[in-house]
Amino acid sequence: MSVRRLAEDNVQPAAFAFNRENAAWAQMTIQKYPKGREQSAVIPLLMRAQEQDGWVTKAAIESIADMLGMAYIRVLEVATFYTQFQLKPVGTRAHVQVCGTTPCMLRGAEDLIRVCKSKIAHDPFTLNESGTLSWEEVECQGACVNAPMVMIFKDTYEDLTPEQLEQIIDRFDAGKGADVAPGPQIDRIFSAPEGGPTTLATPDAPVKKAPAAAKKAGDAPAVSVPPSNAARVKTDAIETNAAVKTPVTAKSAAAANAKVEGDTADKSKPAKAAEISGKPSLEDKNRPAGMSRPGSVDDLKLISGVGPKIEGTLHELGIFTFAQVASWKKVEREWVDSYLNFKGRIERDDWVKQAKALAKGGEAEYIKVFGKKPR
Ligand code: FES
Repeated sequence: MSVRRLAEDNVQPAAFAFNRENAAWAQMTIQKYPKGREQSAVIPLLMRAQEQDGWVTKAAIESIADMLGMAYIRVLEVATFYTQFQLKPVGTRAHVQVCGTTPCMLRGAEDLIRVCKSKIAHDPFTLNESGTLSWEEVECQGACVNAPMVMIFKDTYEDLTPEQLEQIIDRFDAGKGADVAPGPQIDRIFSAPEGGPTTLATPDAPVKKAPAAAKKAGDAPAVSVPPSNAARVKTDAIETNAAVKTPVTAKSAAAANAKVEGDTADKSKPAKAAEISGKPSLEDKNRPAGMSRPGSVDDLKLISGVGPKIEGTLHELGIFTFAQVASWKKVEREWVDSYLNFKGRIERDDWVKQAKALAKGGEAEYIKVFGKKPR
């Protein structure tokens, strides 16, 4: 455990006072606790002091102790115990907290730390030249599935590459941190799999048992090898084939798995992958018309809900321009939504309205229509 001390006297301000709004909030917070138990408000008050001034000063500790009728040492103990409290001045525009616990470390946290060292300061808790940025390494922030990640103020930025972290730091340093969307920085929703759900994708697909008669000596029991979800669909297809009925054995399930993996890994066979995963057919009449790749393509990622992977899939479908998306009819939107396994997200995010604005006047029109920049 690190030794945590207050900052040197020469950086400590002489006094502390909550501003008007925070003072009213503090009084309200103290009143939440029974008489005689006001000290229970110590952590929220310290946190609010930090949010107001950027860090917890000695004067703030003493002022809060006075407000709660506590000895200074008791509040000091709290402030020095919890690493969430910054005891020295941190960057005025961003204090980057890089998770360095095992999952993040295995997924590239060291590269993120290298970025902080080169862009901010070599050592943690050191301000950059203009005093706008600082960084530190912290323990797990609870977003391990989206490792590696950083936290800035109360937001987390996940699934980061060094390049993305550089851009995020630049945005904060320019005072435009609010423009950066927190959460995963790749094509995934919260902690769902990248590119959309990969399991239980065909909830209605029946799970068939191997016929008892198929068992014979030497065969592994039919239930001993649970094929993957995709393989199960494939196996069902094999079983229901009118000409041949194949019992599900260890060998056949493994073969089905291998076949599925081979098929889905082969990007040149989208129709096969679609068949296996229960996606709508590429031959379906409701599939929107595609085109061959034009000389200049629109950045479809400007549409909220489209990340690099989804954009790649749209390109595979021959969708390259905002105008194409803007022209989709309801049945076409439903086809694409189902193909991407988006469960209504295209309607919820109103891709057509977004695409119309972008096709009409680019980002400027988008801002006019939605009151914010496209992502
Ligand atoms: S290990 Fe980094 S968030 Fe958990």
